[in-house]
Amino acid sequence: MIYFVAAIAGIAGILFGFDEGVIAGALHLLRAHFHISPLDEGLMTAAVPFGALFGALAAGPASERYGRRAILLAAAVLFIIGALLSGLATAVWMLSVSRLCLGVAVGMAAMVAPLYISESAPTAIRGMLVSIYQLAITLGILGAYIVNFAMGEAWRSMFMIGAVPGLALLLGMLVLRDTPRWLILKGRRSQAQAALARLRGTAPGDPAIESELRAIDQAAQSDAGHTARWSDLLAPRVRPALIVGMGLFLLQQLSGINAVIYYAPTIFKEAGFGSSATQILATIGIGVVNVGMTLVGMALIDRIGRRKLLYIGFVGTALSLGMIALGAATQAPWLDMLAGIGMVIYIAAFAASIGPLPWVMMSEIFPLHVRGLGMSITSLANWAFNFLVVFSFPVLVSSIGLGGVFTIYALVCVAGLVFTARLVPETSGMSLEEIERHLMSGRPFRQLGTAAAPQPAGGATASDDTYDTA
Ligand code: GLC
Repeated sequence: MIYFVAAIAGIAGILFGFDEGVIAGALHLLRAHFHISPLDEGLMTAAVPFGALFGALAAGPASERYGRRAILLAAAVLFIIGALLSGLATAVWMLSVSRLCLGVAVGMAAMVAPLYISESAPTAIRGMLVSIYQLAITLGILGAYIVNFAMGEAWRSMFMIGAVPGLALLLGMLVLRDTPRWLILKGRRSQAQAALARLRGTAPGDPAIESELRAIDQAAQSDAGHTARWSDLLAPRVRPALIVGMGLFLLQQLSGINAVIYYAPTIFKEAGFGSSATQILATIGIGVVNVGMTLVGMALIDRIGRRKLLYIGFVGTALSLGMIALGAATQAPWLDMLAGIGMVIYIAAFAASIGPLPWVMMSEIFPLHVRGLGMSITSLANWAFNFLVVFSFPVLVSSIGLGGVFTIYALVCVAGLVFTARLVPETSGMSLEEIERHLMSGRPFRQLGTAAAPQPAGGATASDDTYDTA
């Protein structure tokens, strides 16, 4: 059941990747069809991350109020409408409006799908399951590249194909229920019990279900009657989570990932890949490595831990970006090879680490009562920096060159190492409730995961005392 949940919520990720990637191979056809001005082209392309900003903002409060499931249902409907409208568009403004609608759906789903998975997952495989979501994003990107390639000039069909996963998401979410944690928060204990038993494949009376429910209950009780407010995110016990969540997304985006995802063919062209066929094929190759290495990251995340994986990722991306930058700046005669190898290492290091980790950690580090709002703001950072990178890339390349741009991205990855060392806590192997207990005890955020193993049930410890009186 839990794998089914992750797969259905993962469809939201496929749609995220698809709606981002599909425009890359459709742009030259749209230019020919509509005679678009550069400004209109920018507006239309940007409509997705722009809409996503609003989707992410709205999804926080809405998912607290109406539940995680309701928001995913609403997003599914928007995905279907947006896909059909963009395929039917007869004017550029219609395309922009439909992409705005898709963007809102992407922003909502990108926040709520990982939350939905995280709140449904058993502790031991939570990281791996939430990374299914990132795997889905990479599959969506690869799918879009392949659709671009396979459909030739049929741009309307390219867009409309997005309605199919949209429909699958809608049907899947109609079958699923809301998460036990949200149901408890709303005081619907018996429904929560049934939902949890279904997720764990046992009967509602099972002692394991009871003890898991008690832990959720306990975490929820401290927040009873408290409506989450945006200002709660600045409380001393929540602020470090906000900084780590937003910081990880800043680093993820400013590492230049979406410059590569959106402009891979252009970069390959600059690096001396001759024909446009080799550029597209190399781009598909990037998509394949992205998917494959995300699988490797998923196998590692709960085993070697979040922090170690981040170190590996930032070292790998910093080195490979430096390699591309050096080649481009010196116009090395073997630049195409250097850039090709550099891009593969870069994507590999990113996909196994910096890609999935911010999504996973965003769903873990906020206390339950502000989890929705916290994730909302955090994913907002993702969209804002995403937007910034994608828009500044062409301008930056023309002013400081490819070498300069990649040097900046490489430096960001070096900063990522420092950020990880100083601020990022370890959350692997801890249940969401253990993480919460640590946070609310007032112990330093960074010490998460360094404390002794989980306390035995009923055993009073110093931290429990602090928690009770807090
Ligand atoms: C991560 C990023 C997203 C990027 C993707 C590439 O999900 O958040 O912006 O496009 O990785 O695989």
